[in-house]
Amino acid sequence: MVRIGIIIGSTRPGRVGESVARWVSEVAGRRSDAEFELVDIKEYELPLLDEPVPPAMGQYSKEHTKKWAAKITSFDAFIFVTPEYNHSVPGSLKNAIDFIYAEWNNKVAGIVSYGSAGGVRAAEHLRQILGEVQIADVRANVTFSLFTDFENFSVFKPAKNHEKTVDTMINQIVFWGTELKNIRSK
Ligand SMILES: Cc1cc2nc3c(=O)[nH]c(=O)nc-3n(C[C@H](O)[C@H](O)[C@H](O)COP(=O)(O)O)c2cc1C
Repeated sequence: MVRIGIIIGSTRPGRVGESVARWVSEVAGRRSDAEFELVDIKEYELPLLDEPVPPAMGQYSKEHTKKWAAKITSFDAFIFVTPEYNHSVPGSLKNAIDFIYAEWNNKVAGIVSYGSAGGVRAAEHLRQILGEVQIADVRANVTFSLFTDFENFSVFKPAKNHEKTVDTMINQIVFWGTELKNIRSK
């Protein structure tokens, strides 16, 4: 089965990202065709990139990098849960992606974004970043509006229709993820 890491992109105190990711995990957990695990970047306590050798060379020297790399290696696919910060992803997510390289390669990802306009500018930016680490991004993008999917911009109350988009996104991830898993094993 395809193993999918649901990555919480925000590490901010008081973040709403954790409740968004937990909801995605709950909806995803109703399926039996993939395995899901929440991954909280915050728990890995990554500093700003402090590896002397560029990550694409695969010579990780720090314990935090090795721990992060081992966790990412364990997945075939990802769901990135990202807020929009200044029309892009938060630095915490970009930094966590930058930290390693081969562990992302030839895998697949879907994006769940949120913000005043559904976080779509962050999602589109994230697609550019994912291409560079050789992650194939699926079309379906789950987008939550701060105005209609949250109470007082802070309490997550998603509209019912999003569950269908989560399922569509996971269908695409499982389809590509299965094929890429075969390709990686060759
Ligand atoms: C530094 C910063 C920049 C932001 N920039 C944007 C933005 O460009 N567009 C937008 O829709 N929301 C923006 N917001 C609002 C966030 O989308 C909103 O605060 C969201 O709750 C942040 O996610 P988090 O609580 O999980 O960290 C910004 C918030 C922060 C903290």
